[in-house]
Amino acid sequence: MQILTTKADLQATVKACKQAGQTIGLVPTMGALHEGHASLVRRAVEENDVCFVSVFVNPTQFNNKEDLAKYPRNIERDAQLLSSIGAQYVFAPTPEEMYSAEEMNSTFAFDFAGLDQVMEGKMRPGHFNGVVQVVSRLFYLVQPDRAYFGEKDFQQLAIIHHMVERSSMAGTFGNLQIIDCPIVREASGLALSSRNERLSASEKETALAISKTLFASLEWAKEADATVAGVQQRVIDTINAVPGLEVEYYEIVDQTSLLPTDTFNHAIGCVTVYCGPVRLIDNIKY
Ligand code: PAF
Repeated sequence: MQILTTKADLQATVKACKQAGQTIGLVPTMGALHEGHASLVRRAVEENDVCFVSVFVNPTQFNNKEDLAKYPRNIERDAQLLSSIGAQYVFAPTPEEMYSAEEMNSTFAFDFAGLDQVMEGKMRPGHFNGVVQVVSRLFYLVQPDRAYFGEKDFQQLAIIHHMVERSSMAGTFGNLQIIDCPIVREASGLALSSRNERLSASEKETALAISKTLFASLEWAKEADATVAGVQQRVIDTINAVPGLEVEYYEIVDQTSLLPTDTFNHAIGCVTVYCGPVRLIDNIKY
């Protein structure tokens, strides 16, 4: 496995792969890799001739500087994992290599057709601008045939689909296919996340109530008098009743528009919960 740190080396490598007629799979990550990332990489390795993984903690998508500073980083461990599962190339640039000083500080503006005005977008202003800024740059540099993203960040995935659909009209990303990959959970039900590394053993135990409640809500939704608003509130109340947990939002929305819905058809419930100081997200499809 080769680690590339400059855009020039990355582009030269991509060019050589393309000239050899190889298909390219890309897995964008911010490192601190876990089994959820590994599942994306395994799939990219299986479905493409070569697999590129980016490891870059993207500063422009953090609206909270402390969160950025505390984001776990461990490139040696990440490289070991990636090599063991067959990724051929890792792109691990510095922020200065990725962005000009102007790009680092200016607000990137993209029209998300309202997808960024709800849930994570409402709570983290500018977050999705930063995500699209880095993802579109990675697509431009790597020109992948397929790019793999986890459904844990469901809103991010909806926004990336939107971006690619709009751009493909202009041919920007060629025939790029976005591949949605299911959430990977611990046996306990806890959704895997790099942020779990910041939980103490007892916080991790406490956090189990999040997925447990989401799964219970699938049953609540089947009750004869169930309403979306009722189930939504019951999830919030159940999680908030657990000492150490505080729901930031729980919204049951349409899986495509991300707008509030009053039916469980094609609906997804997205939750953000503070477990102590750590902000965790999860979701469940009804
Ligand atoms: O999901 C993530 O880890 C990040 O948002 C992504 C897609 C790698 C962009 O920095």
